Amino acid sequence: MTDQTPAPSAPAYGGPRRILSGIQASGALHLGNYLGALKRFTQLQDQGAPCFLFVADLHAITVWQDPALLTAQTREIAAAYLASGLDPAKSVIFPQSAVRAHSELAWIFNCVARLGWLDRMTQFKEKSGKHKERSSVGLYTYPVLQAADILLYKATEVPTGEDQKQHLELTRDIAAKFNNDFGVPGFFPLPEPLTQGPAPRVMSLRDGAAKMSKSDPSDQSRINLTDDADAIVAKIRKARTDPEVLPETLEGLENRAEAKNLVTIYAALADISREQVLAQFAGQGFGQFKPALAELAVSALEPVSAEMRRLMADPAEVDRVLKDGAERAAAIADPVVDEVKQIVGFWRA
Ligand code: TYM
Repeated sequence: MTDQTPAPSAPAYGGPRRILSGIQASGALHLGNYLGALKRFTQLQDQGAPCFLFVADLHAITVWQDPALLTAQTREIAAAYLASGLDPAKSVIFPQSAVRAHSELAWIFNCVARLGWLDRMTQFKEKSGKHKERSSVGLYTYPVLQAADILLYKATEVPTGEDQKQHLELTRDIAAKFNNDFGVPGFFPLPEPLTQGPAPRVMSLRDGAAKMSKSDPSDQSRINLTDDADAIVAKIRKARTDPEVLPETLEGLENRAEAKNLVTIYAALADISREQVLAQFAGQGFGQFKPALAELAVSALEPVSAEMRRLMADPAEVDRVLKDGAERAAAIADPVVDEVKQIVGFWRA
């Protein structure tokens, strides 16, 4: 991979700080999305960082999406952004497909990225499973579109859960190769992956070795943002654990994946460290810890799901946010893609 090394004399990127992230428009959101992504976006926004957050509908169609549902799913993700505390006056919230430059830059990046780089992507291997040849071509080039999403806004930081780390490394490789190949050092920043949040990998409630995921066939494995209080309490009560009491130190959670997951969830919901959780609950069993966790989860998630329901009942408000966001996003993205086309040497009048 020597051809993706930036020239030694490449100047550091000197543009403004910009945070960008996206969530696929492909069905229900869960606690992993909330703690790994949504809650962190709101924290970054509230620290004054300029945030660009989109609904990844182009990514969603890499697997079949019922057209009758896709629009509703797009609005639902937008509603989740708003309900989690994102303020459209401060952050730009938009549907990916409404800004044409995403597709345009993705094609150019398809010609920058190397097959060998994509062959290493573990998420494609997981998602395509045993039937690789029946997967869409889009599923294969998915990470290239993700690089376009990020670099189109010259984003400097990308907050995501840990599962996106490899895609963010590929984004840096594509940025470096573009800058190098076309002799435009520093044109694209090499964005920092912010994958080390308080809960970068929330695990399934049924299996501490599996990631909490919308594709898990068991609904008991995840807490959905649309679950009511009774469902949240029941799922936490039934969550798999072990018979031991909670330890005094983090080391005591090693080899106890389910216990570690519940402690991590508690800490992230309460905005405290895992050490602080253990200081409070050391010596107690799950009979005591689970009700406390359930109470905390209900009090944190109920306002979010109530606000999501309110927004979904009035899509006009969500649509206004998405339309305005798309215009603001395009105002940044269009000049960047125009400049890229000029750098590549495309004809223009
Ligand atoms: P998606 O839609 O699968 O997930 C959205 C966000 O939720 C995080 N996440 C988790 N975090 C912690 N624990 C979990 N169990 C968990 N499950 C999901 C994801 O890491 C992500 O941050 N490819 C992206 C969407 C995307 C994107 C982008 C992200 C498209 N373009 C550009 C950043 C920048 C995805 O499929 O996320």
